[in-house]
Amino acid sequence: MKLGVNIDHVATLRQARREFDPDPTAAARCCERAGAEGIVAHLREDRRHIQEKDIRALRKIVATRLNLEMSLDEKILAIACSVGPDVATIVPEKRAEITTEGGLDVVKHFRKVKKAAAALTKAGIEVSFFIDPVAAQIIRTKEAGVEMVELHTGAYANAQRRQQISRELDKIRKMTAFARGLGMTVNAGHGLNYNNVQAISRIPGIAELNIGHAIISRAVFVGLEAAVREMVKRIKT
Ligand code: PXP
Repeated sequence: MKLGVNIDHVATLRQARREFDPDPTAAARCCERAGAEGIVAHLREDRRHIQEKDIRALRKIVATRLNLEMSLDEKILAIACSVGPDVATIVPEKRAEITTEGGLDVVKHFRKVKKAAAALTKAGIEVSFFIDPVAAQIIRTKEAGVEMVELHTGAYANAQRRQQISRELDKIRKMTAFARGLGMTVNAGHGLNYNNVQAISRIPGIAELNIGHAIISRAVFVGLEAAVREMVKRIKT
């Protein structure tokens, strides 16, 4: 299982001063040195952290795989097609949210997401949909011509009681097997941290975990390289 590090919050810190430091490209290099096998960045419509120039700079220096998280906004879609990340992960986006809240509703917005996926695929970009671990969403993703999903682990991460945790874990396990059975690539992420990641990392069939907030938070105390190494170790052992 691979680790993709979401570096949005490196840019959040830089935007606090709107100057140059810390530099997301330096962070990406550091994550890769520490064993990350992918770099994830979300170009939000409100540009609260990652900017268009960051995505273009990351495209030049990322040696592993660059995964651009994005909404279905036409302008963002045009930027994605011109920059050409390795992967574009379509996420739902609301302006007022603090972070991505639910999964993309592929069932409800089927025509729109299918059209966006086709445009990205035509530009040579692999497409992934960030969805809740629900069979209907997986089926419609496949029908939209998209072969990769990122299963939303937020409900698992937020679960408090043991029973609830194991119910959410079970959903992720079952939906991973279901999507793998359809020949799809399965990634997972959101809300994962050093304590809750191992149960997810033991689920067979998940290719990659995308983790941001926990790693950048840990980096404040131990440095980014050490924080990434610790997470890689948790995932791989
Ligand atoms: N995957 C997706 C699709 C996301 O939107 C995010 C948050 O930007 C993450 C993973 C990482 O979530 P977290 O920062 O909670 O680790």
